[in-house]
Amino acid sequence: MLISKKLNAAFNDEIGLELFASNQYLNMAAYLERVPLKKLAAMFYKQADEERGHALKFVKYLCDVGGTVVIPAVKAPTPTFKSVEAVIENSLEWETEVTNRINAMMAMAIEQKDYAAQDFLRWFVTEQVEEMATMDNLLKVVKAAGEHSLIMVEAYLAHQG
Ligand SMILES: [Fe+2]
Ligand SMILES: [Fe+2]
Repeated sequence: MLISKKLNAAFNDEIGLELFASNQYLNMAAYLERVPLKKLAAMFYKQADEERGHALKFVKYLCDVGGTVVIPAVKAPTPTFKSVEAVIENSLEWETEVTNRINAMMAMAIEQKDYAAQDFLRWFVTEQVEEMATMDNLLKVVKAAGEHSLIMVEAYLAHQG
């Protein structure tokens, strides 16, 4: 086995969290679609797919290094949200938490001199910078538009292409 038990366990936990994030973003997409903010919803549907992709990367890596894949129970996402701003705030908080977890796994891989895991995790370090920047930017745009002019956010996203 080319991965320690401790790192293997952390990777399995991360698979659960990425799948949770996927469901959470899917739930948010449905909420946004009903507002209706279709472009913002589309962004969250895409985000949901990406999070599932992240989970798959961990699964594949564990298989490649002869680790053990144990998909954990995934808790239910938050059922509803009080505002669009709350959705984005919640997403930014979540991404911050994930960044901390990725960094903690990287620290573990460095401590264990697991160079392959470091290489693998580096992709997530970069990805998290992008994820946090996206949510932070979106939060600023939603706040600037205000709860009554959210349609401007759609125009903003349309302009972004
Ligand atoms: Fe992710
Ligand atoms: Fe993410």
